[in-house]
Amino acid sequence: MNILLIGSGGREHALAWKLAQSPSCDTLYAAPGNPGIAEDAELVDLNVSDHAAVISFCAGHDIGLVVVGPEGPLVDGLGDSLREAGISVFGPNRNAAQLEGSKGFTKDMCAAANIPTAGYRRHDSKASALAGLDEFKPPYVIKADGLAAGKGVIIAESKADAEAAIEDMFGGGFGDAGAAVVLEEFMTGEEVSFFALTDGHDVVAFGSAQDHKRVGDGDTGPNTGGMGAYSPAPVLTQLLQDEVMERIIQPTVGYMAEQGMPYSGVLFAGLMLTEEGPKLIEYNARFGDPECQVLMSRFQGDLVTLMHAVATGGLSAESAPGFSPNSALTVVMAAQGYPGTPQKGGAISIDYVTQAKVFHAGTAEKEGQLVANGGRVLNVTAMGVNVTEAQRNAYAAIEAIDFPTGFYRRDIGWREVERESAI
Ligand code: AMP
Ligand code: GLY
Repeated sequence: MNILLIGSGGREHALAWKLAQSPSCDTLYAAPGNPGIAEDAELVDLNVSDHAAVISFCAGHDIGLVVVGPEGPLVDGLGDSLREAGISVFGPNRNAAQLEGSKGFTKDMCAAANIPTAGYRRHDSKASALAGLDEFKPPYVIKADGLAAGKGVIIAESKADAEAAIEDMFGGGFGDAGAAVVLEEFMTGEEVSFFALTDGHDVVAFGSAQDHKRVGDGDTGPNTGGMGAYSPAPVLTQLLQDEVMERIIQPTVGYMAEQGMPYSGVLFAGLMLTEEGPKLIEYNARFGDPECQVLMSRFQGDLVTLMHAVATGGLSAESAPGFSPNSALTVVMAAQGYPGTPQKGGAISIDYVTQAKVFHAGTAEKEGQLVANGGRVLNVTAMGVNVTEAQRNAYAAIEAIDFPTGFYRRDIGWREVERESAI
């Protein structure tokens, strides 16, 4: 089968690497891809917001499956356009992608389907949001309703800061994403990422991971898209995972089907492990980045067959996805300046890395030289019998990388390394 992969980050490099390993994969194309993805796929220059152009490419290249990496094209309805044209696609339709695209939609679903999550109120005017703050106590959680590139959540310690955040959101500081806001109760606990695959009807668990969102060591500094991750996340025990499937994931899939917008693809649940049990923080309609890199490092099955089954409603005929019992850990090397404006063009050499897989995120090739071309640049990914060993291997690999204009966190996996050393 020929496959078209949409996207250009480290997540898509990990997907390309795994898709290309499948015996069912004939030619893998990627649009737009990056220099790392080019090792596994043929790069094509396609404007993914031009749905007719994507459909015509698929028809011309006998594409049997389109895999959509990022959320943007899903929320933009690329899944709908491809399905209408009779092309199988891994990723939800636009209305189902509201689970990521509208926080208010997801919270209303949680209320309707009795899914554990933080208490909330939705407001579509500044005046009602400001007045609504009185129903909550600090720290205040204020979320822009729509997609805001991971920056739409403000946690404010004081009421004045909360009011300023609301003013900013309704003042256009978050673009269209801030046309409505959700105020939420603050939850405490450890955060974990959980993944499930669903074809709209059947659901299977697809592993856990823990991300590191802050830019600095010790979880300090501004939020980023994620500076590193490991999988599995042992804090999400099998018992807790079963509870998440039963109380959060399955009711979500059931609700979406009942509403006439069946969800097909990967459901990425951000969870808070609270004293009252796991609660949903948010959903994403795609794999996490960099969580995907560690999941794919552990996944042992045939990704093409599995994704095709998800895309075509055939999940019930598949056996449960298999994963290595070992740990995978990835360290993000970012360009100086990130998460602000990253320095572009810095030279990179990864030629001497052994015992780790380096996924490319924001890289480019200029006159034969690999250079930085984005905020998050490389994902150095290693395996180990536990997180401590995977961490050691990943940092050993970084020693062999020359990237003078880059930086990285030195403590990825710290929670688990601490727990492992206490055993
Ligand atoms: P989100 O973009 O919804 O994942 O939110 C970004 C981050 O904000 C999460 O990873 C949490 O750390 C934090 N967060 C979001 N909602 C809450 C909440 N209700 N209580 C505590 N922390 C939250
Ligand atoms: N790493 C978090 C995300 O992909 O949303």
